Amino acid sequence: MKICVIGGTGFVGTYLITKLVSLGHSIKVITRRPERHRHLRSLPHIKMVTIDFFGNKILERQLDGYDVVVNLAGVLNQEGKNSFVQVHEKIAERVAEASKAVGVPRLLHISALNADENAGSEYLRSKGRAQQIVLATEGINVTTFSPSVIFGCGDSFFNRFAQLLDIMRIVFPLACANSKLAPIYIGDVCDAMINSIDNPKSYGKNYNLCGPETFSLKQLVKYTAKQTKSNSLILPLNNFFSKPLAIFMGWFPKAPMTLDNYNSLLVDSVCSEADCKTASEELNLQLHSIESVVPEYLGDKSFSGQMDLLRKKAKR
Ligand SMILES: NC(=O)c1ccc[n+]([C@@H]2O[C@H](COP(=O)([O-])OP(=O)(O)OC[C@H]3O[C@@H](n4cnc5c(N)ncnc54)[C@H](OP(=O)(O)O)[C@@H]3O)[C@@H](O)[C@H]2O)c1
Repeated sequence: MKICVIGGTGFVGTYLITKLVSLGHSIKVITRRPERHRHLRSLPHIKMVTIDFFGNKILERQLDGYDVVVNLAGVLNQEGKNSFVQVHEKIAERVAEASKAVGVPRLLHISALNADENAGSEYLRSKGRAQQIVLATEGINVTTFSPSVIFGCGDSFFNRFAQLLDIMRIVFPLACANSKLAPIYIGDVCDAMINSIDNPKSYGKNYNLCGPETFSLKQLVKYTAKQTKSNSLILPLNNFFSKPLAIFMGWFPKAPMTLDNYNSLLVDSVCSEADCKTASEELNLQLHSIESVVPEYLGDKSFSGQMDLLRKKAKR
């Protein structure tokens, strides 16, 4: 199939595209900076283009003749022109409108668990509005996916906490420590998307996607500390102290946490049993646990961990 991926250069996109290419599909990636993504450019059957999404009929010309369009564009924190409204809503609306205009038969869109136009965080509100817009597009078979936090090599969850634990080696104050999450493996998210493509049961539906286990944020950070052999004292903060910490951290460049992230974490990022059953059955998922994947990329047993040990041994 000819598949066009928007937002395909990031964490999710890199996994998804690699899998699609290995299945023999031909991929076009729309990206703002193709020169930064050699890892994708060097794959077979891949084309990378830069366009103005809002230019007259430019997106339509790029999507014409494609079998599937996948929209993964997203930002966790908004900055300047990259507002949540712009990246999540406006781009999603343009992609749906252009796909419909040129008769693309299939559109996949990634949202987020708890996305809702009335959610407490701007991120989730914009994701919720985008999801509604996309699912309401007529004349095209749409499926949306709402994952909890996604993990895997190169993620910005376990890797980020590992980095922060390495910086805060004595005490690690943890905001929203009791928030619940059900992290899902990136390979399972990609399987869900790929298995849905020619499955009519998934047309017009949103799937909430969760991993097989639920943890508190504190448990996940403790697990990260165990993997990375960090001795930092993890100090769980209640909501009263979490909010000022989130506001304070939001001032830093590449903020490790913002007030909007805090607002997202006020609602547990977990699925109902019915959500899990529907996704597993209809999308044929074999979910991976954290324990079966994370040690491969974090800690002593991982490739980079082994390299670090050897460097330490050599005192380099
Ligand atoms: N990672 C998670 O835990 C998680 C959980 C739930 C939902 N999601 C959703 O899954 C999607 C992919 O996440 P990810 O972790 O792969 O994110 P990522 O690594 O940050 O990649 C984001 C992608 O969005 C594109 N993008 C960002 N701003 C854009 C803009 N202004 N115009 C056009 N494209 C823009 C980027 O494309 P270029 O820079 O190449 O243009 C990049 O490829 C996002 O929508 C995210 O909200 C992720």
